[in-house]
Amino acid sequence: MVKHLLSMQDLAPKEIEAILNKAAELKEKVRKGEPHELLHGKTLGMLFAKPSTRTRVSFETAMTQLGGHAIYLGMSDLQLGRGETIADTARTLSRYVDAIMARLFKHDDIIELASHSSVPVINGLTDLHHPCQTLGDLLTIREHKGKLKGLKVAWVGDGNNVCNSLMLGCTLVGMNFSAACPKGYEPPAEILEQARANAKESGTKLELLNAPKQAVVNADVIYTDVLISMGMEREREQRLKAFRGYQVDSKLLGRGKSDVIFMHCLPAHRGEEVTAEVIDGPRSVVWDQAENRLHVQKALLVSLLA
Ligand code: CP
Ligand code: NVA
Repeated sequence: MVKHLLSMQDLAPKEIEAILNKAAELKEKVRKGEPHELLHGKTLGMLFAKPSTRTRVSFETAMTQLGGHAIYLGMSDLQLGRGETIADTARTLSRYVDAIMARLFKHDDIIELASHSSVPVINGLTDLHHPCQTLGDLLTIREHKGKLKGLKVAWVGDGNNVCNSLMLGCTLVGMNFSAACPKGYEPPAEILEQARANAKESGTKLELLNAPKQAVVNADVIYTDVLISMGMEREREQRLKAFRGYQVDSKLLGRGKSDVIFMHCLPAHRGEEVTAEVIDGPRSVVWDQAENRLHVQKALLVSLLA
């Protein structure tokens, strides 16, 4: 059966570890300038229904460095944009490309795409999940802390796609996860349930709070994301009100461990979810996170295609 990555739940803890190890190895090859054309002649189709800077450029660069090729497929360039079905698009693309990366609105649409694809489908972000971001984040944390197991990650903000994947990823690999989200903006019950099962299995602590100050106590990592995700622009005023008190500033950062790191998937809105002082300050590792998207996605592509 063809393997897809739609959610972090599609990976076993051992598979996550193998991807991170391979990513570290490939990162070293880039540093040394050693060629590693492991996907020579392979093609990745990249379907985008929303904008992207990091996901698009890191996947495209990944394929170039691996000796393959990537094709950008914007919604308005495809017949999908004028009514061809997701199923027919998946069947067609499968006859040309070796893998499909897709950034879509509804998570159900990527499930539909994968169910009709005979090549691996990689989730490049949906309304519910962003697993490639989590893989890059785990590599970044491991680089900065030297380990993952037993660390505490505190999420402050919207219980969104990035939060969902991070919560699943952390609980899978044995990290404690504490989320502070305003009432009504918590992660969906079904994903919380999966994370609780992971935490039970890995013996870690998972807590959901409504108090940022409490969530970040003793944190090794403090993480936030935009308050208004792509497609939610109409909720702007309501969200800005709901997230009052959830901004990550120096005071909140100071409540974490003395060597706490600040993380953000980017793009960031300075003055909304985070202050400029924090994101541009010495505890911030956001540029390492952005870079590591490239390395983990190369490892992922190799594991799915080589
Ligand atoms: N973090 C992330 O996925 O960024 P892009 O939206 O720029 O791809
Ligand atoms: N939660 C954000 C992440 C962007 C990478 C969004 O969905 O817009």
